[in-house]
This record gives sequence, C-alpha cells and structure tokens, in this order.
Amino acid sequence: MKAVVLVGGFGTRMHPLTLHVPKAMVPLVNVPFVERLVTYLSRSGVDEIGLSVCYLPDPIRNHLSRRFDRNLRLHYLHEDQPLGTAGALKNSESMVAGQRFLALNGDVLTGINLREMMDFHLQRNSQITIALTPVENPTAYGIVETEADGRVVRFLEKPTWDQVTTNTINAGIYILEPEVLKLIPAGKPCSMEREVFPQAVEAGWRVHGFPTDDYWIDLGTLEKYLVAHRDLLSGRLAVDIPGDQVTEGIWIGPGAEVDPSAVLEPPIVLGAQCRVAEGVRVGPYAVLGDRAVVEEKATIRDCVLWDDVSVGSRAMLKDCILGSSCIVKAGATVEGVRAFPHHTTVE
Ligand code: GTP
Repeated sequence: MKAVVLVGGFGTRMHPLTLHVPKAMVPLVNVPFVERLVTYLSRSGVDEIGLSVCYLPDPIRNHLSRRFDRNLRLHYLHEDQPLGTAGALKNSESMVAGQRFLALNGDVLTGINLREMMDFHLQRNSQITIALTPVENPTAYGIVETEADGRVVRFLEKPTWDQVTTNTINAGIYILEPEVLKLIPAGKPCSMEREVFPQAVEAGWRVHGFPTDDYWIDLGTLEKYLVAHRDLLSGRLAVDIPGDQVTEGIWIGPGAEVDPSAVLEPPIVLGAQCRVAEGVRVGPYAVLGDRAVVEEKATIRDCVLWDDVSVGSRAMLKDCILGSSCIVKAGATVEGVRAFPHHTTVE
C-alpha cells in the first residue's frame, strides 16, 4: 500500500517553535513527530511513502533516511511554493502511478485503524473515503454530513453553532482512488477540503465518511501539543516511549542521573543522560529531552523540554515548551502556555 503524507506547511500556529524546525520534526515524547507517523503507517501495512515537503525539507529527509531502512520505500516530493493540500497530492501523481493510495495530513496523531478503513472503502466501492472523528467543538473545523451508509452529502467549513448538524469532522486521512487526482489542477494551489471534495460530491462521485472513535488529535497549536503529551503519557494512545519504565509512569533514558532526594511524580519521561539534582520536583506530565540538566530545587510540571535544556536552581516551570539548548536562569518562573525557540535564555 502507498501513502502520501503532507508535511510541507509553515506551521505558523506553532510559532516560535516552528521558525527553524519544521512541524514534522517537532519531538513528541522525545521522538520527531514524522517518525511516529511513518512508524504508524508502516505498522498499518504501508510499504511506500511519499513525503510531500516544502518548508524546511532537509531536516525531515535527513532524519527519516537515518531512521528507516530499505524495507520501507520513502520518496520526497518537493514543491517550490506551497500547493495546498490538493496541489501537494497532485504533485505525487507519478509516485502514486495509477494505484489506490492513502493520503494524510502530516500533523495528525492517531490510532485510527487503517485496515478497517480500507475494508470500509472497498465494501462501498468508494472513490474517496474520509476518516471522520468526533470533536466537542465542530465550529473550529469543517463538518462532514453523511447518510446512514456513510455516503457524504455535504461539507461545511467552520459552521456556526446553528449550522452544526453533526459533531464529526474531517480527520485529514483519506483513501483515494487514483482518478481523484484528475480533479486537481497541476502546478497551482488547491485545497482538498474546500475545493476537491465538495466538487466531487456535487459531481456525483462516490464519497464516503468512515466514522471512528479511535484516538485522534491534530497538532496545530501549542495547547494541542501539550494535550498530546498528556494523552501519550497517560496511555490514551499506545506508542513507543524511549527509555526504561522504571516504575508505573516513569521512564528514564540510559545514563540519566537522578539525585535520591528528587521527587518524580508520574507520568514523566527523562531522556538519556539527564541530570536531576537534589530537591528537584519533576512531574506530573513532564518530558525532558536528552542531556537535560536540572539544578537543585527546580520544579517542572506539565512541560516539554527538548534536548540539551538547562534549568537553573529554584526555577519553576509550568505549561511551557523549551526548544533545544534553552537555558532557564536560576530562580526564573514561567507559567502559562508558552514556548521558547532553541537557544533562548529564559530569565
Ligand atoms: P498552520 O500554518 O499553523 O496552519 O499549520 P500548517 O502549515 O501545518 O497548516 P495546516 O494545519 O493547514 O496543514 C495540515 C497538514 O498539511 C500539515 O501537516 C502541513 O504540513 C500540510 N500542508 C499544509 N499546506 C501544505 C502545502 O501547501 N504543501 C504541503 N506539501 N503540505 C502542506
């Protein structure tokens, strides 16, 4: 099975983290997000993946080519300018080579059962199958209305509350028959959600929604990035967590040193070669990247620290994200959802 993953966006809602790092390379519990996505696809039976890249493509290519061997065929489909979700898929036409394929927004973290989705697609002889996921507030998304057998009747982007007839939204995961690419103009920006899908329904194509309650979140914003960490640490989606689970909810990487007086409140993850000094409190819900250094009596909870971060003594961190090599000065207090790009000194 082939898949095309869209990882070319600017990730502006995750600024400043994504000013120098593509969203796909943002770590999620110490593993770059795109690596988690490729692993999920490979375990779902996908053996050939096109990564549709545009903004900051090199870190994505360099990382994946190191992490995955030749059992998984990876291609990089470059756009000189962002072509939108449909234009990017059109750009993958030669790789798709006339076969049925999966298409995914590269920023969804999910456990959706792709094999079940494929069965659903085949049983209905569908041309376009869209995974549908329930959300509490559909007005922030595009809702998809279906008949009882799943046939899509209408799309509504960002509806007002009085227009809301369903809480199921487009999850950004599609199974497409190759002829769908004929609906997309070549070489110019075009959107699947706003242009191609509504046109296909209008023209009578067989478009279905596959409803699922499996875990799903899109990593669009800093808030959701923190929610996704909480979900993974509390086991709402089973993923590989680097390090050894030394006790329920506490993972510690190789070479980490933790002073016996430090209080570790699960769930937490400490990366390889971390140093946690006396009287420090870590957790609940904290992820420290590799080689983090936390000086005495500092407190860290509900935070994500990337690699090589230093936290000075008595600093207090809550609900924040620190990019690689950030330095938090002794005694600093940071609270509220905030993010600092790499090499920032936080006072
Ligand atoms: P924001 O700028 O914060 O909206 O983030 P984003 O750039 O990620 O945009 P959005 O959330 O709409 O994109 C959903 C997925 O599609 C992400 O994985 C993007 O990387 C990807 N994407 C969006 N636009 C393009 C594009 O023009 N080309 C490619 N190749 N991928 C895109």
